[in-house]
Amino acid sequence: MFPIQRPRRLRRGEVLRRMVRETELTPADLIAPFFVCPGKGIRAPIPAMPGCFRLSIDELVAEGEETLAQGVPAVILFGIPPRKDAEGSGAWAEDGIVQEAVRALKARVPALFVITDVCLCEYTDHGHCGRVEKGEILNDPTLLLLARTALSHASAGADMIAPSDMMDGRVAAIRRALDEKRFQDTPVLSYAAKYASAFYGPFREAAGSAPQFGDRSSYQMDPANAREALREVAMDLDEGADMVMVKPAMPCLDIVRRVRESFLVPLAAYQVSGEYSMISAAAERGWIDRRRAILESLIAIRRAGADLVLTYFAKEAAGFLRAG
Ligand code: PBG
Repeated sequence: MFPIQRPRRLRRGEVLRRMVRETELTPADLIAPFFVCPGKGIRAPIPAMPGCFRLSIDELVAEGEETLAQGVPAVILFGIPPRKDAEGSGAWAEDGIVQEAVRALKARVPALFVITDVCLCEYTDHGHCGRVEKGEILNDPTLLLLARTALSHASAGADMIAPSDMMDGRVAAIRRALDEKRFQDTPVLSYAAKYASAFYGPFREAAGSAPQFGDRSSYQMDPANAREALREVAMDLDEGADMVMVKPAMPCLDIVRRVRESFLVPLAAYQVSGEYSMISAAAERGWIDRRRAILESLIAIRRAGADLVLTYFAKEAAGFLRAG
């Protein structure tokens, strides 16, 4: 072969490299997650996620405007309620934090696509994603609460519903509840393959949602399993999911690839809080180049097969991409 074949020929100069590039990353591929909290004028730093904040609704609207201005079309909202209780009733409250945030965003930044995360862990005092009885996380009684939450988000004007709880049957329960109330056109993006991951640590600090006993291994997936991810995706699609997600992203690039190859629906991957923190921390110490590490991580997730990437770097990365 050598010296006839010289792959380096096509790497000579940025113009040619650009011409033969296989994967594209644009701001339109990104979804920006936000933590929304009660109050006014609040921009509370999240220590383990430098550069991320818990935002009151007014600040969220400003962030939403800036994010959209950078070309990022969509956000996903996580609520930090004023109070938590055993059931997680703040999740479906008519005047709940996410419901009010959705109303404000759709009124003030109507062009921004608003996705809501549906889960109970930010709203329960025990920090689990479902109803708890005698130390067990119950499945079926949780479905009703999730469906109620999803419906309240849709009623507030959410453009898409994203259940992240990993209860069995929740997509069907949510789909049925939405359809019954004439939200048949509201799509569901299911966190179909969500692993029990150490990389959610900083998020739990941000949302105050760490489980107060045990862990999430009885509902989130074992990181050792790949076939099971395909089964989870197949089940969620049967139940009516419109799009699916793999989470976390970088530790699961093989799963992203396998889901991409096995299914036809749009696929999202979530670059989670711990992935954000690792890159941020290393960059802060000068150990890696922040800009390059961010862009490389995102292109890798796209290359693995994700159509969309949820990332706390969304606005910053979009800025880099626009600057070229
Ligand atoms: C809610 C939820 C979590 C994340 C997204 N939705 C936390 C968890 O499952 O513990 C994690 C996102 C991140 O780490 O950035 N269940």
